[in-house]
Amino acid sequence: MELALRRSPVPRWLLLLPLLLGLNAGAVIDWPTEEGKEVWDYVTVRKDAYMFWWLYYATNSCKNFSELPLVMWLQGGPGGSSTGFGNFEEIGPLDSDLKPRKTTWLQAASLLFVDNPVGTGFSYVNGSGAYAKDLAMVASDMMVLLKTFFSCHKEFQTVPFYIFSESYGGKMAAGIGLELYKAIQRGTIKCNFAGVALGDSWISPVVCLCQRHVRHLQRDALSQLMNGPIRKKLKIIPEDQSWGGQATNVFVNMEEDFMKPVISIVDELLEAGINVTVYNGQLDLIVDTMGQEAWVRKLKWPELPKFSQLKWKALYSDPKSLETSAFVKSYKNLAFYWILKAGHMVPSDQGDMALKMMRLVTQQE
Ligand SMILES: *[C@@H]1O[C@H](CO)[C@@H](O)[C@H](O)[C@H]1NC(C)=O
Ligand SMILES: *[C@@H]1O[C@H](CO)[C@@H](O)[C@H](O)[C@H]1NC(C)=O
Ligand SMILES: *[C@@H]1O[C@H](CO)[C@@H](O)[C@H](O)[C@H]1NC(C)=O
Repeated sequence: MELALRRSPVPRWLLLLPLLLGLNAGAVIDWPTEEGKEVWDYVTVRKDAYMFWWLYYATNSCKNFSELPLVMWLQGGPGGSSTGFGNFEEIGPLDSDLKPRKTTWLQAASLLFVDNPVGTGFSYVNGSGAYAKDLAMVASDMMVLLKTFFSCHKEFQTVPFYIFSESYGGKMAAGIGLELYKAIQRGTIKCNFAGVALGDSWISPVVCLCQRHVRHLQRDALSQLMNGPIRKKLKIIPEDQSWGGQATNVFVNMEEDFMKPVISIVDELLEAGINVTVYNGQLDLIVDTMGQEAWVRKLKWPELPKFSQLKWKALYSDPKSLETSAFVKSYKNLAFYWILKAGHMVPSDQGDMALKMMRLVTQQE
């Protein structure tokens, strides 16, 4: 996820949005879904650091949420908002026009979106000294959030918990996954941690600044949605905070850490027996599949030679279709998905295949 600071004209649909939603001052928003249960809140993760999370309980006509996994989604950036991008542009129940999303992951998992690091999305800091400076701080902040979350929502303590991520979120997911594993071992967090999935990840960064102008238009539209109807719905966002208002500062504070590779952390995860999935969009020019394969080859994991020898297996998002939509390779606790015709944001480009991959990773297929 990349920060876009440019202003662009307001898209026409947004001007119509208040009309479509029947909004005027004080009006009740008529949300267009048959809604499942959702809850959201802030957690004070450090002095002056407030992290926002938003949970949707799985909505599946045959299964109770307790029989389905819990997926935490982490956006990239650093500074990209999960509650905004991941939720409304990729896997949440509604798209950014507030229309139901056919391929929402909610049909197969409960979803936890966290605006992380602090300062991202609706998360905020009070004073410039409180931004996270490196991966260690990002992970320790998240441990405070997860500890609070799992002790307030005991119903999720036994549910398999997976961390899915995109772009720089992958680097955070690896670091967070390792800290979570240790916290569970120490008994400080009660959680059924089942694995991490690193999408289009900056595990070992390839320098490319070309994404600067990607998708800025949608971003502006999303910002108006988040700072308009969504903020009204949530009610708890402080008046002096706006969605994305501190994103640039999050990025600047993490900049130095940004280029440090975390291959050794992935090695530690594999060594600890945690399931690690790597996935990449074939058309991703920012983090290309070749680059992903290159850092995977640098792992010191003893099983790597066996993993590397495997042949790619074709996957079909539609069982009746003859068109391959992905390739997978998997050995013991490492799996690699290569999603065809998808760019940097896999679920928004290949919704069906992304949903199928999530089901495979979470052992539902
Ligand atoms: C779903 O699971 C929760 C937690 O285990 C339980 O409290 C609830 O009664 C279940 N609901 C249904 C409809 O079975
Ligand atoms: C923010 O920090 C200032 C200065 O330390 C303090 O006076 C203020 O109460 C803080 N506000 C919040 C919301 O914590
Ligand atoms: C981890 O991956 C292995 C191999 O694919 C699988 O058998 C196992 O069920 C997975 N465990 C979890 C908790 O997802």
